[in-house]
Amino acid sequence: MAATIIPPPARAVIFDAYGTLFDVHSAVSRHMAEVGPDAARFSETWRAKQLEYSWVLSLAGRYEPFWTLTEKALDQAFARFPAVDRRIRPRLLEAYRALDAYPEAPDTLRALRARGLKTGILSNGDPGMLNAAVASAGLADDLDTVLSVDAVQVFKTSPRTYELVLQALPVTADEVVFVSSNRWDIAGAAVFGFHPVWVNRLALPDEYRELAPRAVISSLGELV
Ligand code: LAC
Repeated sequence: MAATIIPPPARAVIFDAYGTLFDVHSAVSRHMAEVGPDAARFSETWRAKQLEYSWVLSLAGRYEPFWTLTEKALDQAFARFPAVDRRIRPRLLEAYRALDAYPEAPDTLRALRARGLKTGILSNGDPGMLNAAVASAGLADDLDTVLSVDAVQVFKTSPRTYELVLQALPVTADEVVFVSSNRWDIAGAAVFGFHPVWVNRLALPDEYRELAPRAVISSLGELV
């Protein structure tokens, strides 16, 4: 295990869910033929709007479950891409509740636990959608805890969300490695005092430079 990625005081490795353990674009990928030539941009719009709604509501002091935002964001994607047949809406939502986990996710979680580390999820997802995703990907037995921001009714990057980890596990912030593919989530985890590890699968340029990850990896497998 690379000491620079998992520092010696670490007792828990907590993962973001959507985009990090689960491939958010796998819902559209499964229905690529029906979505048509705009599939990639349609999926990007769905994801971007879902996240935008989470930040706007949080800044305004409002909250709606992430599943509701996922539905509204999908409707916005349909509105922006009128050529995409709306009849696939239920199938896309069904697929989103059972997203593919990245192939290396189960082995990585098992290897971390075999080394005595606690594993968990901290996600914007509400408990219903998170439990469905974890169950369908077969990850339930590899996670010590699955935490939803629904408990505090605000989205990441509010510090109240990261605090949920410290309430659920007997750890301090500097004993937590927080793994996310979302650079903005890494920024929030850095502010909170976790050891953030950015999964930069697409080799995106860095941002939020003052709120840096402790390590950058290109696949979850590099954690172990
Ligand atoms: C999550 C989203 C934001 O799982 O990726 O929290």
